[in-house]
Amino acid sequence: MTTSQLIFIILTVASSHFFIAFSLRQLSGDHHCDRSNLPAQKALRTDQFTVLINGYSETRIPILHTITGIYSSSASVAAVVVLWGNPKTPTKTLVDLSHNLSISSPGDAPISVIRQPSSSLNSRFLPRRWISTRAVLICDDDIEIDRKSNEFAFNIWRNNPEQLVGLFARSHELDLTSRTWIYTVHPDRYSIILTKYMLMKTEYLYLYSCGGGESMAKARLIIDEMRNCEDILMNFVAANTTGLGPVLIGAKRVRDWGDARNDGGNGSTAVGLSSRKKDHRKRRGDCITKFHRVLGKMPLRYSYGKMVDSIGEQGLCEKGGKLVFCDQQNFK
Ligand SMILES: *[C@@H]1O[C@H](CO)[C@@H](O)[C@H](O)[C@H]1NC(C)=O
Ligand SMILES: *[C@@H]1O[C@H](CO)[C@@H](O)[C@H](O)[C@H]1NC(C)=O
Ligand SMILES: *[C@@H]1O[C@H](CO)[C@@H](O)[C@H](O)[C@H]1NC(C)=O
Repeated sequence: MTTSQLIFIILTVASSHFFIAFSLRQLSGDHHCDRSNLPAQKALRTDQFTVLINGYSETRIPILHTITGIYSSSASVAAVVVLWGNPKTPTKTLVDLSHNLSISSPGDAPISVIRQPSSSLNSRFLPRRWISTRAVLICDDDIEIDRKSNEFAFNIWRNNPEQLVGLFARSHELDLTSRTWIYTVHPDRYSIILTKYMLMKTEYLYLYSCGGGESMAKARLIIDEMRNCEDILMNFVAANTTGLGPVLIGAKRVRDWGDARNDGGNGSTAVGLSSRKKDHRKRRGDCITKFHRVLGKMPLRYSYGKMVDSIGEQGLCEKGGKLVFCDQQNFK
């Protein structure tokens, strides 16, 4: 072997090692966890929030126009960013989409589309250095909420900045026979806010992606194995931090277009819904049981009542079919 051949081999090995190390770093999201890359918490503004919309299906693009337009015209929104999770979508489409959404928007907040670094569902919660606000809204590309309710949700969050605030809630419950957790809906209480619309402090992105040591690393791995449940894990993180349950609000008008990944693009009608729903609930219950196991505790807490915006800014709670003024104690 000549010297030049040897040097060539060494260089090749060295660069492939570099590449492997680099892509592992990308996958694990480590570089997102470097605090020096992120703005100081104190520097984040509190009068507005950033909207992070999960985008996946090109058939949703018309709805995306409507939704980004509504957020972008809200005075409380600093920026609207579509996090595109479908790796098959060509870059040109995303560039066009970004442009189209911006020029068609009636609002002032900038709209952009960025591709997720990997197909992991955990990517939705990566901390981002371009987030300039203390709060973020994590939402899906199929939820249309009226502007006033959006502002109302933000006001409620400002009064409860440690808690998750949302529009759709579920519950956990222990199945005493099997000693496993069930994912369910209770008529009077809830412990889980869904990412269809989840308003929360930006810091939770960091705690989810970078905090909790070895046990959270295992929990994030479960998300990738199950291809599900990242929203439930975020509820674990928030409840673990605060010791409190989330806050549910009622919107004046919400339109849920359904989930394209579940029903092939058309949310208005679904076939075999009941058996699929049952399987969905089972898998979500399994996630709760697994998270409990790897984290070694069950931090989820119940909340009661729902904040509704009826008399101006006054929050009202729906309790047993009656509307009563919400004492904030109800949520703590
Ligand atoms: C962007 O707008 C152009 C012109 O209306 C249209 O032809 C194209 O399909 C749009 N692309 C996307 C990705 O929305
Ligand atoms: C839960 O809170 C404890 C105590 O503050 C902390 O040490 C741990 O890392 C947290 N776990 C998660 C999953 O956030
Ligand atoms: C959804 O499906 C229904 C019935 O198949 C159809 O009438 C409707 O136009 C579809 N909507 C969309 C948005 O594709």
